[in-house]
Amino acid sequence: MKKAIVFGVTGQDGFYLSKLLMEKGYEVVGVVRRSSVDNTTRLKTLLYGMSITEGDVTDPHSVQGVISKYQPDEVYNLAAQSHVATSFKQPSLTWNVTAGGCLNILESIRFVKPDTKFYQASSSEMFGSSFTQDLTPDKRGFVKYQNERTPMTPQSPYAVAKLAAHHMVRLYRDSYKLFACSGILMNHESPMRGENFVTRKITKWIGAYKAWSNQWGDTWWGIFHDDEFINSNQFGSSRFPKLRLGNLEAYRDWGHAEDYCRAMYLMMQHPDPDDYVISTMETHNIKEFLELAFAHAGLDDYRRYITIDPELFRPCEVDYLNGDSTKARKTLNWAPKHNFESLVKEMVDFDTQEAKRTG
Ligand code: NAP
Ligand code: GDD
Repeated sequence: MKKAIVFGVTGQDGFYLSKLLMEKGYEVVGVVRRSSVDNTTRLKTLLYGMSITEGDVTDPHSVQGVISKYQPDEVYNLAAQSHVATSFKQPSLTWNVTAGGCLNILESIRFVKPDTKFYQASSSEMFGSSFTQDLTPDKRGFVKYQNERTPMTPQSPYAVAKLAAHHMVRLYRDSYKLFACSGILMNHESPMRGENFVTRKITKWIGAYKAWSNQWGDTWWGIFHDDEFINSNQFGSSRFPKLRLGNLEAYRDWGHAEDYCRAMYLMMQHPDPDDYVISTMETHNIKEFLELAFAHAGLDDYRRYITIDPELFRPCEVDYLNGDSTKARKTLNWAPKHNFESLVKEMVDFDTQEAKRTG
């Protein structure tokens, strides 16, 4: 039986990756950092089949302790301060966890068990403002994309930290001959997505709004909108806050976390360690996500339900991500099973059911 340690097991990808590894017959050890309230809620359906141990990637002793104790075949580093906007407010913490954490794991592997395979969760955010540009086949326009050869110009403290970790992985692979690979993953979402990333924020809001309007909105006099609230009548007897969003113009290549965790696993099974871009090869802006999500929920024009909050704009933005994952598709025989439409619908349906269930 192979043994895998997953750092960052309590996050979105931790859930899908642990589930996959357990289905493949692995013994999975999840590393959970100390918290004052339970942070293993995503794992509740998996906990009976895996081991949980305490550790923090910023603490080299705890990282080394876990690797010494469990002597893993594979280590996956999903741990990060992964929110881009937060990284502008907490740059040092972001650096320590996201860059330093990766280094602590690499060093522990090097000293304790150098034949351990290592996966690093690199990010398409590292491309920042860069893209590669080719003429379209009819030579009338250009297609813009990012692949393994696209230069990287990170636009946030998070992306700078991820890029430092990415280079560290390459360096340990080249100099110490570790089996160390990085998945440069474009945005990936699911019903397990953190609630302050834009997709889940939208679908959670839709679920909650539908639960509210089932109770208050179906009256003959209808509902009344002002700038901040949706009101059950002109006196605002019951009010529901509008969905507050920032920049709606950015383009993202949104895939499903389940597909992307399968790509992580495949990278670790390939005979040679390498870096791969993982993407759907399709890009949409936030307005397109909103249109599809609201239409699927049976709501009319999304613009009536949102309010733009300048506080939610970032000091620097990544305007356009559109991944070219040809290398992974050819070398790893990987392809996504979900698409943009099925992803959006799954998230809306999940959050609608959840809001109904929890009242
Ligand atoms: P996530 O839901 O934010 O999960 C991050 C995980 O890191 C959580 O388990 C968190 O623990 C843990 N963590 C944070 N600080 C830690 C520390 N000091 N020590 C140990 N663990 C710590 O992120 P995700 O969406 O699953 O993404 C997984 C990884 O892929 C992250 O590294 C992210 O940066 C990267 N990535 C994500 C995407 C995407 O679109 N999802 C794309 C590219 C790359 P708590 O639960 O206790 O907070
Ligand atoms: N979070 C958030 N909240 N984003 C908003 C909002 C809002 O209210 N309104 C607009 N946006 C815009 C952001 O400005 C950004 O352009 C886009 O929505 C996506 O934001 P996020 O969902 O927060 O994701 P991200 O692209 O910044 O980062 C995610 O993907 C990276 C991979 O490219 C994270 O998962 C990172 O950890 C990951 O590396």
